[in-house]
Amino acid sequence: MQEMSSESGSPAIGTVLVTGASRGIGLDFARAWLERGAQVIAGCRAPNSASALSNLMQEYGDRLRIMQLDVTDERSVETMAGALGNQHIDLLINNAGILHVETLDNMDFASILEQFKVNALGALHVTRALLSNLRDGAKIINITSRMGSLDDNTSGGYYGYRMSKAALNMATRSMAVDLKSRGIVVVAMHPGMVQTDLTRGFGMLTPAESVAGMNQVIDKLTIEQSGLFLHYQGTTLPW
Ligand SMILES: NC(=O)c1ccc[n+]([C@@H]2O[C@H](COP(=O)([O-])OP(=O)(O)OC[C@H]3O[C@@H](n4cnc5c(N)ncnc54)[C@H](OP(=O)(O)O)[C@@H]3O)[C@@H](O)[C@H]2O)c1
Repeated sequence: MQEMSSESGSPAIGTVLVTGASRGIGLDFARAWLERGAQVIAGCRAPNSASALSNLMQEYGDRLRIMQLDVTDERSVETMAGALGNQHIDLLINNAGILHVETLDNMDFASILEQFKVNALGALHVTRALLSNLRDGAKIINITSRMGSLDDNTSGGYYGYRMSKAALNMATRSMAVDLKSRGIVVVAMHPGMVQTDLTRGFGMLTPAESVAGMNQVIDKLTIEQSGLFLHYQGTTLPW
């Protein structure tokens, strides 16, 4: 495993696994950690059509490992974990996510269920499958959204997205408690309003700007912060 020093002087991150790395924020997480010298395992649903991710192979060669991963498919999750064998992971970024729109007048329960499967259960599946790979002292970042905050919900709607991210937030709290004895830090992180396919290109930040902010926060994370809901700029958000 290649070691690298972090700018903050916090423990070195050798291997990073990011889910949903084909595009958007996940792709920029993969790129940023490669630039920082880490080994990156990039999970994506359809590796053959993840051309932007594949292009990173030309620059970073075998420091990037692209693996098929559909976080809603237990077999896919288990196959990836099996292929990793006893490879250690220092940083797990549960990033894969989807957003669909529902209103009280136009409700699609199948769509709501699908968002739960990806946004909430996906992170749980992946984390459980990788428990033995995660180093003691590792970090787990669950990419959530402010839209999953109960306190912050003053505009309504988005039933599936809001409910599934609130469920992910609760899973984050349980993981933080359950993994504390191993020194593993688990946080929920809001990436800001980012220009990706999920927002149809609308947002205040590019994916690279969002990831740069989140990585600064990740560098400084301590076990005392485990179980928090953090903004990409490091402030604590209300649940
Ligand atoms: N953009 C924002 O403003 C914003 C704000 C708050 C939170 N977030 C969160 O940030 C995360 C990344 O979002 P984004 O904006 O980068 O969205 P995006 O550009 O739409 O990318 C979503 C990623 O998730 C992957 N994905 C979807 N379903 C999957 C599944 N079943 N298994 C594995 N991967 C799957 C997609 O893969 P495919 O290419 O195969 O579809 C893609 O790589 C999400 O969790 C989102 O909720 C984003």
